[in-house]
Amino acid sequence: MNSIKSLVKKHGSPIVLFSKKEFKKSYSSLQKFLPQVKHFYSLKPLPFEECVKIVSSCKGYVDVASLGELEMVKKVDPTMLSRCIYTHPIKKDAEIKSAFENGVDVMVVDNMEEIKKFLPYKDKVKILIRLGFPNDEAKCNLSERYGADEATFKELVNFAFDNQLNIIGASFHVGSQMQKPTEHINAIKKCKVFYDWVFKNHGTRFGTLDIGGGFPAKYNNSDMDLEKFCKPIGEALENFFPNTEIWSEPGRSVAANCMIAVSRVVGKTFKNGKMWYYLDDGVYGTYSGMMYEDITYELYSVKKSNEKPIASIFAGPTCDSVDIIVPNVMFQPLDIGDILFSKRIGAYSVTNRTRFNLLELAKVIPYDFDLEDFENISSSTSVSEEKNLIQKIFGTVFNHTVAPYRYFNKKKI
Ligand SMILES: Cc1ncc(COP(=O)(O)O)c(C=O)c1O
Repeated sequence: MNSIKSLVKKHGSPIVLFSKKEFKKSYSSLQKFLPQVKHFYSLKPLPFEECVKIVSSCKGYVDVASLGELEMVKKVDPTMLSRCIYTHPIKKDAEIKSAFENGVDVMVVDNMEEIKKFLPYKDKVKILIRLGFPNDEAKCNLSERYGADEATFKELVNFAFDNQLNIIGASFHVGSQMQKPTEHINAIKKCKVFYDWVFKNHGTRFGTLDIGGGFPAKYNNSDMDLEKFCKPIGEALENFFPNTEIWSEPGRSVAANCMIAVSRVVGKTFKNGKMWYYLDDGVYGTYSGMMYEDITYELYSVKKSNEKPIASIFAGPTCDSVDIIVPNVMFQPLDIGDILFSKRIGAYSVTNRTRFNLLELAKVIPYDFDLEDFENISSSTSVSEEKNLIQKIFGTVFNHTVAPYRYFNKKKI
């Protein structure tokens, strides 16, 4: 707590603390819980140079989805390019060419037009066919946007064999922030059926299976236990793919723990029976996961207080009505200048933020905190209650604006 206070004194606010130690811990945990898997850290949720260095120090692997990400890996540690896969299912020829020139040869396709792009590169490319396994439980149902169905998979495999294109296996992403490992296991079982079909029809066994991301972060002190989540996935892999090289593309679960958002109260007013607090960070800033990802974060105060909690709303610094971090919570009374923080905000937060109102973005401060030191602070907000209230207060407008990804997904546009 004192460390947060002194960091604010030194750097002002808003700030985001970045702990290399916690990032390393999270990546190493996956290596420990699924030791038979090569974990390609998916750079999307936190594409920091430091992250690539840490993964490299863990003798790990990286998953990129753009030339920007690839160039960053190259700049930080060119040796990592040989431990890199390019998993965006849609690519321009210039991207493909540049990836090959840099020695990245594993590419993902999920449709006919895409696989044809590799005909000029038959001698180089190693193809993964991305399969789609839609499910409603995922925070982000990535299979609606990408992933071949069974018929397309077979068509792509037949095309590849007819045209001497080298397919090394299949990949999938069951959706981000899965609550249970069931969908991963179901997908693994379905892949086994597909791989058997390939063997029966083409006499080849694919040597690789990529089980994607979707490993959960432990948001809001939930009882999510990554080891328990991974165990049955490991068993399914042993059962169905004992002799196959297994890859994964974890993003969120590796990045979430390593950041703490720190802000201050910059304004307050009492309205309609509630105390409104205006903070200097919000949903267009470090709390952008609330906008894009339907994630909610708990707020904590660094001030010790015996005062009776009062009904409170916490809003961000922009002029926009949706800039609400916590819509209704009983919270200790606060003054202007008081410091608040939220844990586990490392994934899809600083990457998604924008400078709405041309506000300054929170500065990222390298600070090797131990998350454990912040674990026993009593929680300020009940998340399920908070979610219901968000819906109640802002209805469709809030839903539409704050979670556009999920809104569009549900409408299936
Ligand atoms: C292709 C691909 N791989 C990996 C990831 C990372 O997934 P997660 O953050 O759920 O681990 C994503 C997320 O969008 C993705 O699209």
